[in-house]
Amino acid sequence: MNGRFYITTPIYYPSDRLHIGHAYCTVAADAMARYKRLQGCDVMFLTGTDEHGMKIEDKAREAGITPKQFVDNIVEGPRGVKDLWKLMNISYDRFIRTTDEYHVKAIQSIFRRMYDNGDIYKGTYRGKYCKPCESFWTESQLVDGKCPDCGREVVDAEEEAYFFRLSKYADKVQDLLENTDFLQPRSRVNEMVNNFIKPGLEDLCVSRTSFTWGIPVDFDPGHVVYVWVDALSNYITALGFDNDQYDDYDKYWPADVHFVGKEIVRFHSIIWPAMLMSMGLPLPKKVYGHGWLNFGGEKMSKSRGNVVDPYILAEKFGVDALRFFMLRTFPFGSDGNFSNEALIQTINVDLANDLGNLVSRTAAMAEKYFGGALPAGGELADLDGELKALADEVTANYRTQMDDFQFSVALNEVWRLISRANKYIDETMPWALAKDEAKKPRLLSVLKNLCEVIRVSAILISPVMPDTAEAIFQRLGVPAEGRTWDAVGFDLERSGRWNTANGAPLFPRIDMDAAIKELEAAAEEAKKAALPPIEIEPQATEYVDFDTFCKSDFRAVKVKACEHVKKSEKLLRFTLDDGTGTDRQILSGIAKWYQPEQLVGKTLVAIVNLPPRKMMGLDSNGMLISAVHTEHGEEKLNLLIVSDDIPAGAKLC
Ligand code: MSP
Repeated sequence: MNGRFYITTPIYYPSDRLHIGHAYCTVAADAMARYKRLQGCDVMFLTGTDEHGMKIEDKAREAGITPKQFVDNIVEGPRGVKDLWKLMNISYDRFIRTTDEYHVKAIQSIFRRMYDNGDIYKGTYRGKYCKPCESFWTESQLVDGKCPDCGREVVDAEEEAYFFRLSKYADKVQDLLENTDFLQPRSRVNEMVNNFIKPGLEDLCVSRTSFTWGIPVDFDPGHVVYVWVDALSNYITALGFDNDQYDDYDKYWPADVHFVGKEIVRFHSIIWPAMLMSMGLPLPKKVYGHGWLNFGGEKMSKSRGNVVDPYILAEKFGVDALRFFMLRTFPFGSDGNFSNEALIQTINVDLANDLGNLVSRTAAMAEKYFGGALPAGGELADLDGELKALADEVTANYRTQMDDFQFSVALNEVWRLISRANKYIDETMPWALAKDEAKKPRLLSVLKNLCEVIRVSAILISPVMPDTAEAIFQRLGVPAEGRTWDAVGFDLERSGRWNTANGAPLFPRIDMDAAIKELEAAAEEAKKAALPPIEIEPQATEYVDFDTFCKSDFRAVKVKACEHVKKSEKLLRFTLDDGTGTDRQILSGIAKWYQPEQLVGKTLVAIVNLPPRKMMGLDSNGMLISAVHTEHGEEKLNLLIVSDDIPAGAKLC
């Protein structure tokens, strides 16, 4: 065993379906966990869901189910959080739900610990609250009067509440941030110190009484524990701290790293250390605040309607390609702009062209010239030494970068080697060597060196693309011992081990235009499918008095003529027989749903005593009655078409 490694992702709010932005952090943590396992570490990789709070209570009420039913569906149900992690090949060791009984009990005792040592006291909370973010803000923290994190409206809040003496820990936390490597990347330190600590760290409100979907404070049951105190503690309760469910606290705590998105760095680098200090517990070794995956320049969010569905992309391009794209393209500490075009470009260039071609060409030549089995022997040249030197350099750099969580730089290193190997093929020209029997030993070495580069590269990419690495090992016939971290060194003498096979390309090239169109259509479909099948406007709750209602004069009318109104996309012009002997003209904005010729001869219903109105310069005398509803977000309209047995002018009452 090569030490222990405890890594966590944030626990996700199961208030909506997760999107590719959420998957970003989890994929990164998964790659890190696999990298450490590869090196022989005893890894604990924790993820989970953060299930309490007002937002979830509100959403469950809207859906007409209990909060627990609501979260169960999003966490465990089809295409839920756990399904998504399965799809993305996330190898977590433990999954915590904050509604798990053991966590609930542990939170009550954690709250009591801080209360008993005098760090939690009762007071009155007055301030601003952002419901979607479950965050309290002081007036001075608001940006243009709105939540500084999400830009949405905040509400006034005042209630009896418990407070945590965060202010007491201000100096210690500042020291931790400024004088240690606790928070990374380093650029986030200034942001925390200047924006939150220097203006004066206020005590934190850590209980609420205005809603119930949370963990009750056991010694004052009207209060529920503030959701962030509940959520942050998951990192220790999931190891068995203050509970009997697990017994790994001593083994894994302190965590090696918490991966978190930049907007929740504040909670992890200020509040969480202060809570731990208050309880006298060791601090995590690192918090890494990664950037956001944006879409069209803005953070992905359901309310902005710009979320990218990982299911669609994984089905279309494969999970490994998606995992690779996220980690290779965007520097982990900065924001990145996700686009389908960039994804396809990366697949075509890095995966199909560079890696895929290298594997296909090498396997094809080994097959062609040696029947797939590369025997011992061969003839080395200076160029091979160069290739080996580069492989060793790349492996060393890769390691430094991975240890620093710089996935994109680490992968860039591997691609340096892959590109060099492709160039090595052009330089050594195996097809020319094959023509001359005397050069066969050289040809053998060239092909074995190529296999060796591919083998080393496959080990290095295996944390990010586990299935691809496996496919490559199989393609080259690499035995189990050649797939390990111990065997990562490039070995010029590795001989007689290769047993290659031809096969389908690892990453077929994608037709950009066609794929983009398909993705857009699939996204549109998915968006529609996610909306309620039928939505009907709620009934009026206010009475209308009978006499007023009776004043509305509804009549059967027969359509004599119907045509589009010139220059209007919406309006149809009806000439109607209303039984009076004089034609009635009504304009109706229903061109989206009907062709004029469909309606001629039909018997409809109109209200005839509305005051005349001019539309596009034409008079409209009344209004045709239709039924309206929404289907998968799309407005639907059906004219009331009644029996032709009803004579024109018949009164409806
Ligand atoms: N429940 C809290 C975390 C509690 S941890 C003790 C929470 N949940 S969340 O579901 O809203 O967000 C979880 C993580 O997803 C955050 O780290 C957030 O930054 C990340 N992301 C959400 N959208 C994202 C992108 N578009 N891009 C990258 N990460 C994003 O916060």
